[in-house]
Amino acid sequence: MRRILVAGNWKMNASSADTKALLNGLLDAGNLSCDVAVFPPFPYLTQAVSELNGSAIRVGAQNCSDQRSGAFTGEVSTEMLADCGAELVIIGHSERRALYGETDEVVLSKTRLAIDAGLVAVVCVGETLEERKAGREETVVAAQLTLLLSELTDADWKNVVVAYEPVWAIGTGETASPEQAQAIHAYIRTLLAERSANIAEETRILYGGSVKSANAADLFSQTDIDGGLVGGASLDAAEFIGICRA
Ligand code: PGA
Repeated sequence: MRRILVAGNWKMNASSADTKALLNGLLDAGNLSCDVAVFPPFPYLTQAVSELNGSAIRVGAQNCSDQRSGAFTGEVSTEMLADCGAELVIIGHSERRALYGETDEVVLSKTRLAIDAGLVAVVCVGETLEERKAGREETVVAAQLTLLLSELTDADWKNVVVAYEPVWAIGTGETASPEQAQAIHAYIRTLLAERSANIAEETRILYGGSVKSANAADLFSQTDIDGGLVGGASLDAAEFIGICRA
C-alpha cells in the first residue's frame, strides 16, 4: 500500500522566526496519520531538522545542484543536503524549469545525485495552460518522464516520488478537478507500468496545484493520487494540518 504523503513547499518564503512558529504549529497537531514533509529554503534546513527532532515530520530541500562538488559558486550539493539532515529534495519544479531553464537532462542528473546521496527525489512534471488547451498534457508528462524511466534502475525508483503539477493550477487558486487529476495520474501510472509493474504499484504520485484543506479530501481519495505537494497553503499551519488530516 502506498502511504499518503503531504509535502509542504515553502518556496522563497519564511524567516527563522516563521520557521519556528510554523513547525511548532505542526508539532502541536500531534500524529497526522500520513507521511508529512516540509521543504523550507536552504538557510532554514538545519533549523527545521533540529526543531522537528524526534518527530515523524521529515525535512526536504527545494532544489539541489546537478554537480557533485567543486567550483560551482552558489550551488548546494545533494551530499550537503543529506549532511544537514534533509531526507528529500524537490527536483524539476515548474518554476525551476520555466525561470531557471532546467531541462529533462538536468532533472535526471539531479535525481541521480539525490538518490546517490540517500535522498528521496520528488520529481515534478506537468503541462502549461497552452499545452492543456491543445490536449497535449499526456505527451508533455510522458516526455518529462522518458529519461527517468530509461535511465533509473528499479532500485533507484524506490527513492523517487512523482509530483504531477499542472502549471496552470500552481499558485493560481485554480485546481484540477479530482477527475482531471485522477485521469492524468492514472496515465502516469501506466507509463510506470510499461517500465515495471512493481514501480507502478509502489511509486507515489502526488498532486500539486492549489491544494487546500477544502479540496484535499476529494483529491486524495482518487485511486492514483497518493498525496499532495502543497505551496501557498503550506505556509499556514492550520491549513497544512487540515490537508494532512484530509
Ligand atoms: P500552490 O503551489 O499550492 O501554491 O499552487 C504548489 C507547488 O508549486 O508546489
